[in-house]
Amino acid sequence: MVALTERTQRRLTTQTAEIAAETTTLRSLDWDRDRFDIEFGLQNGTTYNSFIIRGDRVALVDTSHEKFRQLYLDVLKEQIDPATIDYLIISHTEPDHSGLVRDVLALAPNVTVVGSKVAIQFLEDFVHQPFQRQIVKNGDKLDLGQGHELEFVIAPNLHWPDTMFTYDAKTQILFTCDAFGLHYCDSHTFDDDLSTIEADFRFYYECLMAPNARSVLSALKRMGDLPEVNMIATGHGPLLLHNVAEWVDRYRRWSQTKAKAETTVAVFYVSDYGYSDRLSQALARGVTKTEVAVEMLDLKFADPQEVQELVGRSAGIIIATTPVAGTQTQAAVSTVLAAVNSKQAIGIFESYGGNDEPVDPLLNRFRDLGVTIAFPPIRVKDTPTEATYQLCEEAGTDLGQLLSRDRAIQKMKSLDTDLDKALGRISGGLYIITAKKGEVASAMLASWVMQASFKPLGLTIAVAKDRAIESLMQVGDRFVLNVLEEGNHLSLMKHFLKRFAPGADRFAGVKTQSAENGSPILTDALSYLECEVTSRMETADHWIVYSTVQAGRVSKPDALTAVHHRKVGNHY
Ligand SMILES: Cc1cc2nc3c(=O)[nH]c(=O)nc-3n(C[C@H](O)[C@H](O)[C@H](O)COP(=O)(O)O)c2cc1C
Repeated sequence: MVALTERTQRRLTTQTAEIAAETTTLRSLDWDRDRFDIEFGLQNGTTYNSFIIRGDRVALVDTSHEKFRQLYLDVLKEQIDPATIDYLIISHTEPDHSGLVRDVLALAPNVTVVGSKVAIQFLEDFVHQPFQRQIVKNGDKLDLGQGHELEFVIAPNLHWPDTMFTYDAKTQILFTCDAFGLHYCDSHTFDDDLSTIEADFRFYYECLMAPNARSVLSALKRMGDLPEVNMIATGHGPLLLHNVAEWVDRYRRWSQTKAKAETTVAVFYVSDYGYSDRLSQALARGVTKTEVAVEMLDLKFADPQEVQELVGRSAGIIIATTPVAGTQTQAAVSTVLAAVNSKQAIGIFESYGGNDEPVDPLLNRFRDLGVTIAFPPIRVKDTPTEATYQLCEEAGTDLGQLLSRDRAIQKMKSLDTDLDKALGRISGGLYIITAKKGEVASAMLASWVMQASFKPLGLTIAVAKDRAIESLMQVGDRFVLNVLEEGNHLSLMKHFLKRFAPGADRFAGVKTQSAENGSPILTDALSYLECEVTSRMETADHWIVYSTVQAGRVSKPDALTAVHHRKVGNHY
C-alpha cells in the first residue's frame, strides 16, 4: 500500500505514500530542524504533512513550510496537475503548514480555499491577493464524490485559534494538523512502534496542547460525534494508524488532569503578531509545569464578554504587548484592564512585533489597580533566542508557583506525623545536577538520586515537575551529576538553593569546566558522572528520570559523599 519516493536536498527530503483509497500523503521531512521553538526540545527533526484526496473533485489538505518550496511543488506536480485541484483545505494558517499557500494559488487560480472563519481572516492578511473561499462551521460537509464526503470539526486553540479538523467518511481518516502531532522525523510513514515515539508525542503535547487542555477536551467531545476514526493524519511526524485509540486516550487523560486544576492563569496573546505566539507558549508551558491550568486567548479574535469571563475566573493573568493604539487588540487589552481585581497576579511580556505598545505604560496601569506583579516584565529587544524562551518558561513557572504555594504548603502539613517521621528516615546523598543544551543551561540540588542498573550503568533522579531543569532532562538529553563532598558541600548547596530570577545565570561565580557532553562540571565536586536520559516515569509531582552513565571521574579518592539526613518525609 505504501510506495515511497524520496528526494534529497541537503537534509530536506520528501516522501509520498498512498495511505488509503484515493488518498496520498506528501510529507516534507526536515531531518535537522533547529531547536528554535520550545516544542522542538527533542532531537528528532520534524515533518510537515500534506494530503491529496481524489474524489470526483480533488482536495489538497494543507501545504508545507516555505523552505520546502521547490521540493514540495515538484512532488505535488508529480502527483497531480495543480490546476485540477478544486479545494485547498486549510487546517490552520501557521506558516509551517500554510507557507506555500500563495504558490499553490498561483498554480491553481480557480481553487476554493476552505477554512474556519478565523483561518480565512488570517489568510487574507497573509496572501495579500483575492482568492475564492468557503468558510465552514462545525459539522459542515463537503462532498468530493466517490464516497469522500468530508466533515469539518472546528477545534479552536489546537494550537491556533483558527484550527479545524477534517474527517473523510470513506477512508475514516481524521486530518488534525497540529493536534496529535509530534516532532519526529524518520522514513516511517506510520506509528509502527509506539515506544520509539511516545516521549516525543508527550513532549509535544506538554508544550502545545497542555496549555489548551480544556480546548483539547472540547475537540475530543466533537470527535466523539464522528463515526469511527481509523487513522489520525497529523500535520507533524508519523501518521497515527496502529494505536489510534491509545493516542486519543492519552490526550484525554492528560487533558482531564490538567483541566481539573483548581487555579487558572489566562494568557492573552496575538497569534499572528511578532513573536507573541511563541513567547506566550513558553510562558504557558512554564505555568502548566506547576499544578495550575492555563487558558490561552487571542486578543485579536476574542469577544469582550469572553475576555471578561476569562479574567473573572483566573487567579493570574499573562498579557502580551500588542500593536499600538486604536486596534481591535487594544480594545481587548482595555477590557482586561477593566476586569482585573487587586487579588490577581499578572505578568507582561513584549511581543517583539515592531510597533508594540511599550511595556511600561501597561505595567503602570496594572500597578495602579493594585495587582501583584508576578515577574519582572519580559522585554524582548531582539529576535527571541533559546535563552528568551527559557526566561519565559521560568517566569511562567514562578507565576504558577506563586498561585499554588499555599495549597502546596497545606498538602505538606497534612501528612500523619508518625508516617512522616518514618519516611524521613530515608536518606540520600547530595548532588548538583547540571545541564546545558544549546545556549540554555540550568542546575539544581538533588538528593533523590539512586543507582538503578549495572548493565548498562544507570541511575534515577526524581525531578519535581516544576523544576526549571526539568525541560533539559527529556529523553535523549544529556547532563552531569556532580557528587558533593562531605565537609565541602555547604557553599555549593547554598548557592544552588538560591531563588534565581527567571532566566538568571545559575553558574555565575561558580567554578566549572565543560564535560564531554557539553554540560558544566563543578570544579569543587567530589566526583562527576556524564549521563544521558533514557526514559521517564511519571508520578503525581515528580518525573523519575532514568539515565545511563557514559563517563565519570573522582577528584579525591578517599573523600566521602555528603549525606542528607532528614527528619520528615514531606520535604527533601
Ligand atoms: C536537601 C535538598 C534536596 C533536594 N532534592 C531534590 C530532588 O531530589 N529533586 C528535586 O526535584 N528537587 C530537590 N530539591 C529542591 C531543589 O533543589 C530546589 O528547590 C531547586 O533547586 C529550586 O530550583 P527551581 O528554581 O528549578 O525550582 C532538594 C532541596 C533540598 C534542600
